[in-house]
Amino acid sequence: MAVTIDGKQIAEDVVSKVKASAAELIEVTGITPGIAVVIVGEDPASQVYVASKGRKARECGFHSVQHTLPEQTSEDELVKLVETLNADPAIHGILVQLPLPKHIDSGRIIQTISPDKDVDGFHFINVGKLGTGELETAFVPCTPEGSMLLIDRILGRDLSGLNAVVVGRSNIVGKPMFNLLLAHNATVTIAHSKTKDLPGLCRNADILVAAVGRPQMIKADWVKPGATVIDVGINRIPAPERGEGKTRLVGDVDFADVAPVAGALTPVPGGVGPMTIAMLMANTLVAAHRSAGKTPPRF
Ligand SMILES: NC(=O)c1ccc[n+]([C@@H]2O[C@H](COP(=O)([O-])OP(=O)(O)OC[C@H]3O[C@@H](n4cnc5c(N)ncnc54)[C@H](OP(=O)(O)O)[C@@H]3O)[C@@H](O)[C@H]2O)c1
Repeated sequence: MAVTIDGKQIAEDVVSKVKASAAELIEVTGITPGIAVVIVGEDPASQVYVASKGRKARECGFHSVQHTLPEQTSEDELVKLVETLNADPAIHGILVQLPLPKHIDSGRIIQTISPDKDVDGFHFINVGKLGTGELETAFVPCTPEGSMLLIDRILGRDLSGLNAVVVGRSNIVGKPMFNLLLAHNATVTIAHSKTKDLPGLCRNADILVAAVGRPQMIKADWVKPGATVIDVGINRIPAPERGEGKTRLVGDVDFADVAPVAGALTPVPGGVGPMTIAMLMANTLVAAHRSAGKTPPRF
């Protein structure tokens, strides 16, 4: 039976380390790590995410500001705000909550964020650094970075000789996950909707990362016995057993089916999800250290 990887606990450990390190930075340099979260429009899910990021930042002892802009904000106005935050010495990390309203070009906004404050790791400079293995100075997107930390806890930092398969090739999860695994010496294959014999490919994986967005797609007979399985997917499905109209969250992996086969497995919720916000805090702390000319802690 697989070990359940407790993402909640590991995320709490990361946050504790961030808190302690932030307190030390403040004491030694007088610099308080600062994060600005920008949200445009009224999307309820985005509001919830942004509120929880602000709460976590305050818990870490950060200076935390939120800019809530109306839906009709123009692209130029948003660019101006990002430029102001780029120039603000009290802000070390800038996060623009996605998705943005359709009339705003997200790409332009992301490329306007200073690469040194790009704690989401979406700027081309940071994408390029990750792609070329410049991990010491890159910012890595939080979800794959958190997934990598979970893998590290099970298998250690050096994945030499292990085969990894990442299912999903998005810019925010699949591709950075591929690059991180490669940087840790795994032999990596990335799969997507056009891949032939996906179950056969997955069965070859010592490390299987699912980032697809298809509820419970990965079944026991896709998984190599003893494999480490990281489920990034978050899918809401009907749960009539909980009452009429009720729903529940499931991953891309069929947890109950896969648990008897895998060696270690993340649950949904309570796996990768909590790691994402913890890594956002870690990246902001790192940004503050770099701006102060201090060596940031390792996570
Ligand atoms: N835990 C977290 O904090 C967190 C953060 C981000 C995302 N997520 C979740 O992770 C999942 C993936 O997110 P994303 O943003 O990467 O999604 P995305 O941009 O929609 O990408 C999904 C990827 O899955 C591939 N795919 C779709 N159907 C497939 C199939 N039947 N077989 C093989 N590959 C298939 C797609 O292939 P093509 O490229 O060929 O279309 C694409 O590369 C979602 O459930 C999302 O909610 C969780």
